[in-house]
Amino acid sequence: MIQARYARSVRILHWLLAALLLLQLAFGWWVGELPRNTPERGYFINLHKSIGMVTGLLILLRIYWRFTSTAPTLSITMSHWQQRLATAGHHLMYLCMLALPLSGYIASNFSRFGVKFFNTMTLAPWGPNDKGVYSFFNRLHSLSGWLLLTLVVLHVLAAIGHGLRRDGIFFRISLWPL
Ligand code: HEM
Ligand code: HEM
Repeated sequence: MIQARYARSVRILHWLLAALLLLQLAFGWWVGELPRNTPERGYFINLHKSIGMVTGLLILLRIYWRFTSTAPTLSITMSHWQQRLATAGHHLMYLCMLALPLSGYIASNFSRFGVKFFNTMTLAPWGPNDKGVYSFFNRLHSLSGWLLLTLVVLHVLAAIGHGLRRDGIFFRISLWPL
């Protein structure tokens, strides 16, 4: 029997984005601890912003591919409420995945620093230097980071559960066989 799986592009992006997002979460918390107004902090913050912007584009591509290809249905092995919980969790993760790069990008454009893309190309801010707007989006950035981390922990626990039950859910997103 051929089991239903996500499209190859969706599977590749799931794992690439999982790696990039976990890296960016750790990087974001680390970079926040660096002493302010130092060249070191500026260098790493711009690296975080640049990787985040590239990640944001990949997220848009993932969401586009996900919702333009047919997703496998969950009905075979899971009860109705389990399916609804899984879908709600996935949608919330997509929301956080959009909110993180977007809030970071908007916040950066309401500060005088803007973005120095990979520390080579200066992208001048398109907004005024506004502390209120900056801190609103900065708080949203931090909040969505914590929410995504919480959801990912629950997601991985659920995935381990499926793996142990060998119910085929893991296979739907696995890279092997491609
Ligand atoms: C930052 C890390 C991660 C994020 C943001 C993430 C996000 C997602 C999302 C949004 C889906 C739903 C796909 C869809 O229906 O569109 C998904 C599916 C899945 N993920 Fe992850 N994931 C991450 C890491 C992981 C890890 C580390 C594992 C395994 C240990 C994993 C296992 C799975 C499995 C098994 C599915 C398939 C679920 C199904 O068939 O409905 N994910 N992931
Ligand atoms: C997928 C992408 C991203 C993830 C997962 C991510 C994650 C994080 C996290 C977890 C923090 C620490 C927040 C805290 O202190 O509680 C952070 C800080 C920060 N992020 Fe991001 N980020 C992403 C993209 C971006 C982008 C695109 C920008 C700007 C263009 C950006 C700008 C910043 C800045 C400036 C800080 C430091 C805030 C401060 O300490 O005042 N991030 N990020």
